[in-house]
Amino acid sequence: MPRIAYVNGRYVPHTEARVHIEDRGYQFADGVYEVCEVRHGLIVDLTRHLDRLDRSLSELRIATPMSRRALTGVIREVVRRNHVRNGLFYLQVTRGVARRDHVFPSASVKPALVVTAKSTDPKGIAAKNEKGIKAITVRDNRWDRVDIKSVGLLPNALARQQAKEEGAQEAIFIDADGMVTEGAATNVWIIDRDGFLVTRPADHGILKGITRTTLMDVAEKLGVEIRERRFSREEMLAAREVFITAATSICFPVVEIDGQVIGNGHPGETAERIRGHFFEIAEKIAI
Ligand code: PDD
Repeated sequence: MPRIAYVNGRYVPHTEARVHIEDRGYQFADGVYEVCEVRHGLIVDLTRHLDRLDRSLSELRIATPMSRRALTGVIREVVRRNHVRNGLFYLQVTRGVARRDHVFPSASVKPALVVTAKSTDPKGIAAKNEKGIKAITVRDNRWDRVDIKSVGLLPNALARQQAKEEGAQEAIFIDADGMVTEGAATNVWIIDRDGFLVTRPADHGILKGITRTTLMDVAEKLGVEIRERRFSREEMLAAREVFITAATSICFPVVEIDGQVIGNGHPGETAERIRGHFFEIAEKIAI
């Protein structure tokens, strides 16, 4: 079945989807994106993802490409046309197409919008949840506006590649003070020695993950106490549990970091409990 993409006003076969060579996303990474989960034919946490998109756009002073109502219509159509019941949609807005110049183009240049959707393999995800994953740590060498979900992801891509080459599935960034920031494409959580669920405050050092926000709702409902504070690489290695969250993976247990076993080397029960209740509590919108 051919995949369909939405590109600047048209639904086109994925193989024919094109953007211009002078799109500022291509030349300057001058754009933002969202990735949102589709589960059992329902779009998960759409409102929060679109709220964050608005924030990213306004931080970079990129115009909103269309109304929220129209954008939701495009997203639904792309998910439907690709017959995605379990998977994700990807949405990208760039500042648009203009002759190459570092300064912003005139306001007459319209932002460019691309939306794609794809199915994911629920069995692969289940296997990672059952066994847990391995991670490595790397120096956080990103710019200081990682709170904006920008398409400038080269350090993240290099870190993930390094993880893969070292037999791991995620790279965890460590800042100049030896503190954990986040994963290459995930937020990081630990259960500390006192049994508290700990994650870094969503300051400018991390992206404020939507899964992170909803997970806080879930933890509250389950009576799991959260401490938003910084924690070091050493504290993470000595934690009872470590897990990572993102819209693509919800909540993957991490059982080994830099070759050191975490906890008893098996997925922890907190990650499992939270994952078990996540979809009950998250916002769900029919396609
Ligand atoms: N990444 N931190 C970073 C750097 C991320 O790229 C992501 C998500 C997250 C988690 O955010 P959320 O819970 O909203 O998915 C944290 C997406 C999935 C990606 O780039 O594919």
